[in-house]
Amino acid sequence: MPKPVRKVVFPVAGLGTRFLPATKAIPKEMLPIVDRPLLQHAVEEARAAGIEDFVFVTGRSKRAIEDHFDADTELNRTLEERGKADALDVVRHSEIAPGRCFYTRQQVPLGLGHAVWCARAVIGDEPFAIVLPDDFVQADKPCLQQMVEAYEQVGGNVVAVVDVPREHTSRYGILDVEKDDGRLATVRGLVEKPKPAEAPSTLSVIGRYILQPEVFDHLEKQQLGAGNEIQLTDAMAKLIGTQPFHGLRFEGNRYDCGDKVGFIEATIAHALKRPDMADKVREMLHKYC
Ligand code: G1P
Repeated sequence: MPKPVRKVVFPVAGLGTRFLPATKAIPKEMLPIVDRPLLQHAVEEARAAGIEDFVFVTGRSKRAIEDHFDADTELNRTLEERGKADALDVVRHSEIAPGRCFYTRQQVPLGLGHAVWCARAVIGDEPFAIVLPDDFVQADKPCLQQMVEAYEQVGGNVVAVVDVPREHTSRYGILDVEKDDGRLATVRGLVEKPKPAEAPSTLSVIGRYILQPEVFDHLEKQQLGAGNEIQLTDAMAKLIGTQPFHGLRFEGNRYDCGDKVGFIEATIAHALKRPDMADKVREMLHKYC
């Protein structure tokens, strides 16, 4: 059995420029999908996968994130005094247990690889997960849990993948596939955002990773890659050949919440899965379609 995955990194230092002015005073990750911030959905997914320690790589003006996962004793007391047990439950559920969340800052936006590297001291020498909250995944069994189960079988490194249209390869990290059984693909190479004509496949990495700590040895070198940024994809590519590396086609749907239409779609998809509102939302949508 490979070493268990107990820690997760959330790279959340981005400026959220695509959502300005909404993100002027609020971190992008705090925008809600229905009634929970995008980042809380990601935390819950990690929790369901057995993650115990939560590492947030934040930046300036991201304080709301710390407050959100903290216990608001005054609010809790007020809700209790007023007998609002349901609301209290919901609020308590958003808290992360004492000593289980860690905040570190990425001072300069040098790329995803650099953001992950900023978490190295907290991760130490054990396998860890990375979740990019912008990639919202709806699945009966949470995506990261599916990945942990695959990891328990194959060990090494596992990334979540989806097939994308060839014209979209320049938006993603793309797999060069050695073997593919339709669910798990054995990876022999990775390329960050290749042009469609140069992409080795159309299997794209989405924002869910289980990686071995050796990736930090490569991130340490701070080499610039695509877009002149320190790319996680390049550091991961260096692990191939020395450790198992697989792409998992998870079961579920992925929504790109870095995009406005994707965000709306995620909101609707999530609302339609919620027993407390699905019928009303469906009825409301009929008015527009
Ligand atoms: C990042 C990664 C890319 C990955 C994508 C998934 O790109 O660099 O390899 O496919 O996330 O969302 P970004 O979306 O930050 O440009």
